[in-house]
Amino acid sequence: MFEYPNSLAEKMWLLPLENWAFQPLDFSTLFPSFKEIEIEIGFSTAFFLSAYSNKHPEKALLGIEKNIKYFKKGFHILERRLEHENVKIACFDAIAFLRELTPFNSLDAIHIYFPDPWPKRRHRPKRIVNAENIMMMRNRLKPGGKIYIATDHPDYGEWMKIQLKEVDQHFIVHPYNYSKREVTTRWEEKQKKAGWNIHYFLLEKP
Ligand SMILES: C[S@@+](CC[C@H](N)C(=O)[O-])C[C@H]1O[C@@H](n2cnc3c(N)ncnc32)[C@H](O)[C@@H]1O
Repeated sequence: MFEYPNSLAEKMWLLPLENWAFQPLDFSTLFPSFKEIEIEIGFSTAFFLSAYSNKHPEKALLGIEKNIKYFKKGFHILERRLEHENVKIACFDAIAFLRELTPFNSLDAIHIYFPDPWPKRRHRPKRIVNAENIMMMRNRLKPGGKIYIATDHPDYGEWMKIQLKEVDQHFIVHPYNYSKREVTTRWEEKQKKAGWNIHYFLLEKP
């Protein structure tokens, strides 16, 4: 890291960016008694997060939700439903969290269920599932770590196929569908009942 010589650092117009920069998290401090760490991006009302973490007391779950309204809803649902002390949550942009704070080779899984579809063409750059983000997430996974993705949005589903094709040589791509889902989300059940076709993807870092 570059350190300004004292004489320079004292000058007010030199911003001490290195001092302000985020430090990567140490998951062994955050979750001292857990070996497996998984993240859910956009937990919203936390139906998946609560059911999945209750089913897996051996796993530590980190839920990141950027919308304060959903974060609060999810928080209250978690308060009522959680059976173990294996969940921590933050109201933050999960992509920034992964990119800036999450150490390389630290996660066992990343769950991305029904991310906002941003259907307008000009909004597509906002879609969180794209080749660049998936490669960034790959770096944060341990070998054997997995990325689970689902969408019911037809155009986003096709877009995901194209984006994932660009990076699939860096993963083991597993067949994945509704019948293989261990825990589903509330939205998933609603859309399934309404007859929507859901696209599922499961990638493993070799
Ligand atoms: C369509 S909802 C799906 C909620 C839930 N996963 C489900 O399947 O029922 C998408 C959620 O992701 C959240 N979200 C979108 N972008 C995000 C980001 N970059 N970081 C964290 N949460 C995000 C939204 O606020 C919203 O709550």
